[in-house]
Formats: sequence, C-alpha cells, structure tokens
Amino acid sequence: MPLRKLPFLAYSYTQINFSQGQREMGSKAHVSNSECCYPMSGGDGLHSYSRNSILQKKALEAVEELVNTIIQDKLEFNNLNISGISNTFHIADFGCSTGPNSFIAVQNIIKAVELKYNSLHQNDPPLEFHVFFNDHINNDFNTLFRKLPSPQEFFAAGVPGDFHGRLFPKASLHIVHSSSSVHWLSKIPDEVTNVSSPAWNKDSIYCTGFLNEVVAAYSTEFQKDMDNFLNSRAQELVVGGLMVLLIPGLPDGVHCSETHFGANYDVLRSCLVDMVKLGLINEEKVKAFNLPIYHPTTKELEVLLERNAYFSVERIESLPAYLFPSVQSNTSFMRAAMEEVINQHFGKEIVHSVFEFYAKKLSANYIDYIQKQRNVFIVLILKRST
Ligand SMILES: C[S@@+](CC[C@H](N)C(=O)[O-])C[C@H]1O[C@@H](n2cnc3c(N)ncnc32)[C@H](O)[C@@H]1O
Repeated sequence: MPLRKLPFLAYSYTQINFSQGQREMGSKAHVSNSECCYPMSGGDGLHSYSRNSILQKKALEAVEELVNTIIQDKLEFNNLNISGISNTFHIADFGCSTGPNSFIAVQNIIKAVELKYNSLHQNDPPLEFHVFFNDHINNDFNTLFRKLPSPQEFFAAGVPGDFHGRLFPKASLHIVHSSSSVHWLSKIPDEVTNVSSPAWNKDSIYCTGFLNEVVAAYSTEFQKDMDNFLNSRAQELVVGGLMVLLIPGLPDGVHCSETHFGANYDVLRSCLVDMVKLGLINEEKVKAFNLPIYHPTTKELEVLLERNAYFSVERIESLPAYLFPSVQSNTSFMRAAMEEVINQHFGKEIVHSVFEFYAKKLSANYIDYIQKQRNVFIVLILKRST
C-alpha cells in the first residue's frame, strides 16, 4: 500500500436508544446504554492516559508474535468475502481510548494480515484496510484522530457507543480486537451498594475475592456483560473472522486482593478513608463507592466460552502483567484510569488530593506492595464459527 495520509471519519451507524431485549438479541445499533461511562483521562498532558498506559502497552507488545502466528495459521481469506474491486479488510478495536496503544494493536494486525495475504495472492490487488475505533461517546476521540500514525496505512473511523451492544452491521468485520477494556463493567452490581443486601461491600471498593456474596454479584455482572459483548461481536464478525481479547485478570485460584491490582485499589480506598477523617469527604459516599471493574480468571472465561455457540477458542493464555518500576509511574497509571470514576462519585475538586495521598501512601507501603502476586493479562483468541 502506498505511504500516504489517509482520511478518517467519525460516525455511528444508527443513533437510537434500544431496550434491553433488543440489546441482548444483538440486533440493532447501540450507541450508549451503559450506566458506567468513565473515559480514561484525555489529551496528552502529564496525567493523560496516552502518557500513562505503559502497563497496557507492554501487554500488547507481549502478544504481537502470538497474534501474528494465529493470523498466519487460522485466517482463511476464501471464507471472508473479500472480493471484487474494493478488497477492503475491516478491523475494529473496541475500547480504543485516546489511541496510542490501539494503534500498536491495529498495526500489528495489519502487518500480519498483509504478510499472509501477499504470500497467497501475489496477482491480486493489494488489500486496503478500514479500521474502526470504538469507545464510549464521551471518550476523547479528538486526541485519537490527531495522533493517528503518519504515514497512515489504513482508513480510520470513530464509532462511539457501548460495546455491550451492537455497533456494526451484520457480518461486516474481519478482525475484532479489544485490550484492557472488557473488564470495565456496564454497571456496578446493585447488591454491592445495597445496605440491606448480604453483598453490601461497605468495607471495600472492589471485588477482593474473599466475600462470596460480593464475588457472586460482580462475577454475575461480568458474565452478563461478556455474553452481551460476545453475542454482539458474533453478529458483526464474518464467519471465519477472528477476535483478539486481552483482559487484565487474575491467576487461577488467586484472589484480587492478593495481587498488585487489588493492592492499588486497597491503597485508593485507604486514601479515601483518610480523607473522611480529615473531613474532606463524606463517609457514606466512601461506603457507597465501588469500582465498576472485575478481573476474571482463565477458568471463569473458559466456562463462559463453553456456553457460547458462536466462537471456537483458538488460544487462551496468560502472561504476567508489567510491574511498575516506581511509585510515581504506578500513581500516574491509576490516576489516568480512575480519575473520572472518582470525579463522578466525589466531585472534581478532590481528584488531585486523592492522588497526592495515593503517592504518599503507596510509597509508605511499597515493600508490602512489591511482595503481592503479579496480575496476568489473559489472551483470548476466538474464531467466529458457523
Ligand atoms: C484502559 S482503557 C484501554 C485502552 C486501550 N485499548 C489500551 O489497551 O490501552 C479502557 C477503555 O475501554 C473503554 N470502555 C469501557 N467500557 C466500554 C464500553 N462499554 N463501551 C465502549 N468503550 C468502553 C473506556 O472508555 C476506555 O477508553
């Protein structure tokens, strides 16, 4: 493909709200129905996601070779309906944020697809790539578009909306990708904020893994969301199309609070409790605060995929997650991902103080923190079966 600047456009196919029934059938465009909509920090300043997402970037780099191998082995162009004058190959990245990591993922996929295609179709016109970048409607798409790689090897389009429902026409995508995104839940499970429920999670802000009722509530929500995600993508992918998912998860048999992610969330809660003591925030607000995040294990995903008739599992693996080399880099990562959640629950004015407390507290507990178990990135490669 010639090296040139290609155009991009931002659109959604149909901007209509749909009922839950339609959403589960995965039948129509689904722009935004998610109760939780917390974009990563936008722009490219000091606290932005684009400058503080090295953990996610390292995971993408670690799977590059595996993704290439699967594409060489499993992608069959004859079954993908790529024909005629256009020869267009469609890729979608779900939960793209402001872009830098999404570009790495997409470029790896393009490189692998071209390698395979060029070896088999020397006399055919080259492929053209159309790449769709999806995220919530209030994601900073402008930063993504401004930072598109140059020269650009693909045509780009933004697709706003909740990925737990349909966002593309039937059988219109050839490869679907999503990294570090599907562990964000569409909502905080009702039970964990309900004072009369045995699952009331008043002493934590996430699913530590130790309270059965809390685990059940979080895990049920995650399964519901994943079913919606998979069923929607099943409609949108052509038969034979591939899906690559990278999910920040837990090693089998390990509770979240025993890991670095859990330790980060515990430090965050501890800062909020300190701020209650100083009269800076309200105690009831802290008790009602829960992160809309769930880190699954490989086993949980396997069970979930067994009951999904649309996909065959081509690969499921876990890779150790990157460990931050300093308190500062860890704090900046947490801030870039969590500041909007804190902002929406407690108000914008406390965000900066929370992360000042955070850096101090993490620093004071760094030895304990380092000794926690590593999280994993679960790599899931699926093929759309008949
Ligand atoms: C941690 S970022 C990952 C960004 C990028 N994929 C990477 O690997 O660095 C998670 C992204 O998923 C998006 N996201 C979470 N839930 C979503 C949903 N239901 N629909 C669309 N995007 C969602 C968030 O807005 C956020 O931009």
